Amino acid sequence: MRLSQMLFVTFKESPAEAVIPSHQLLLRAGYIRRIGSGIYSYLPLMWRVLQKVSQIVREEMNATGAQECLLPQLQPSELWKESGRWDTYTKAEGIMFAFEDRQGREVALGPTHEEVITTIAKETIRSYRQLPQHLYQIQSKFRDEIRPRFGLMRGREFIMKDGYSFHANEESLKQTYADMDVAYRNMFRRCGLDFVAVEADSGAIGGSGSQEFMVLADAGEDEVLYTEDGKYAANVEKATSLPPDVEPSPFKKYEKRETPNTPTIASLAEFAKCSPTNIVKNVLYEAVYDNGLLVLVLACIRGDRDINEVKLQNKLAQLAPEFEANTILSLAVPDEAAKQKWAAKPLPTGYIAPNLEDDYISTQGGSIHPKFIRIVDKTAAELKNFVTGANEPGYHVFGANWGKEIELPKLVVDLDKTVAGDRAVRDPEQILQTARGIEVGHIFQLGSKYSTAMGATFTNEQGEELPLVMGCYGVGVSRLAQSAVEQSHDKDGIIWPVAIAPYHVIIVVPNISDTKAMEAAEKLYAELNQAGIETLLDNRDARAGFKFKDADLIGIPYRVVTGRSLKAGKVEVVERATKQSEEIALDEVVATLKQRIDSALI
Ligand SMILES: Nc1ncnc2c1ncn2[C@@H]1O[C@H](COP(=O)(O)OP(=O)(O)O)[C@@H](O)[C@H]1O
Ligand SMILES: [Mg+2]
Repeated sequence: MRLSQMLFVTFKESPAEAVIPSHQLLLRAGYIRRIGSGIYSYLPLMWRVLQKVSQIVREEMNATGAQECLLPQLQPSELWKESGRWDTYTKAEGIMFAFEDRQGREVALGPTHEEVITTIAKETIRSYRQLPQHLYQIQSKFRDEIRPRFGLMRGREFIMKDGYSFHANEESLKQTYADMDVAYRNMFRRCGLDFVAVEADSGAIGGSGSQEFMVLADAGEDEVLYTEDGKYAANVEKATSLPPDVEPSPFKKYEKRETPNTPTIASLAEFAKCSPTNIVKNVLYEAVYDNGLLVLVLACIRGDRDINEVKLQNKLAQLAPEFEANTILSLAVPDEAAKQKWAAKPLPTGYIAPNLEDDYISTQGGSIHPKFIRIVDKTAAELKNFVTGANEPGYHVFGANWGKEIELPKLVVDLDKTVAGDRAVRDPEQILQTARGIEVGHIFQLGSKYSTAMGATFTNEQGEELPLVMGCYGVGVSRLAQSAVEQSHDKDGIIWPVAIAPYHVIIVVPNISDTKAMEAAEKLYAELNQAGIETLLDNRDARAGFKFKDADLIGIPYRVVTGRSLKAGKVEVVERATKQSEEIALDEVVATLKQRIDSALI
């Protein structure tokens, strides 16, 4: 491509809303244009990058036997009602763009495709003989993100590869999941990314079946906790650890004491002259289930620790059937106004105990469960002679014990929020470190959640009808492309990994009125392209320095300059990543570059 004929526009500045380097650079270098909040156009250079990423993804998927298809983006509400997700996606999370068509039918723009693919499986898969199956597509997804930001990192329309597999049993699912782990590592390595695979939250389904692939970068929205030995890495939402040891409690006998102005753990520990590890902290939450029921939750944890709300929400989602609900819609710490709806009398906020009486709940304000869900983290359940609230403002109890003064709730689970500095569970010598990560891929063992809900069954060898076992696997193609820039740039611009660069080489003619220089450039341009080296020719009528700046900004791996050295039958070749420059004889340029580019593509 000749730049003189291309819609090639670069900018000195980027708009103020672009705060991270990759977003600024993609805008400045003319790769993307913002059309609206979270909505971007991919200009020709970007489209080439995206197609290269897609092709790598496609090759690795096909190598596992997965089959490419294309599913509709327009999805009727019936499918989502069958799976039970319509309300969650349109109301609770509200992430799905949904509207009514002219016939008054509800439709939505696909944020994900479990419903569509499960419907297809239901209609086409009858027997174990047809299994396993794995279909994938690469296409734009729509999500009404509440906070679209960082350009392509979190868009409202973005490109995803999503794949779904169907199996006769768990073993077969685990096999495909393992194949995907390998395929994903291959994809990200080939795209030139520095990434880690981390254990991820798999929602209420639980189990060990979810892994995310994180590109490590400060701009990442996720926190990754890992050990130096490389044996453990997890999303903070999912991470577990050995919390610090408990200090021996100084309180041997049970008593209630006046503790004025001690509503926080820090103020209480100071007043009581004890360690926060001697305190049971009680946090009140409001959960709303999908049948509209409001349930108050009293969660207890050791004073020095915090509650991981993802773990709590997963546990509460598992309890949904007890409340005749399917799932939980929201979980929040209520403010004073929210408490008005159900508090029968003023709550002893800051002085609550795990045994706060249920008569604080009034059910008159609507669909409200009359009892607290009481749930205790393991760290708190193990405590002896602890301090906790006395259910009376300004008072705490000291030297309390579970099973004596306070009944231990039945729900003792892991609610602990792991933090950097904790010891690793498998090897206490290893201390957890923290890093920021950009989630570029996610693989997930779904089990039979969707197939059961939607009645997608098959007949096994014994003639029994069973729900299909499913897996799903996503790659954020457009996010991946931007994260490559986030990881690889310098003050002058983008440094594309060769495999996903829009072009391999840019030939810059410093002075286009120099006919010898133009002739040499045209000849090289033809030869390079013929050799399969994707080449741009900067034949614009502009100053050399200006053109060099643009070449650096757009990040093409090799720049060839037909300048002074032509007299000696040579051109200057500059490697973008290192800025190293060398002079290469005209008749060796193609072979030299071909060899370097091919070796970078392995
Ligand atoms: N709003 C978005 N903008 C760009 N990419 C996204 C967005 N949401 C998700 N992705 C990408 O799609 C992949 C699969 O999405 P998924 O795991 O279903 O999303 P989430 O992690 O938000 O539940 C993610 O790993 C991520 O790379
Ligand atoms: Mg995800």
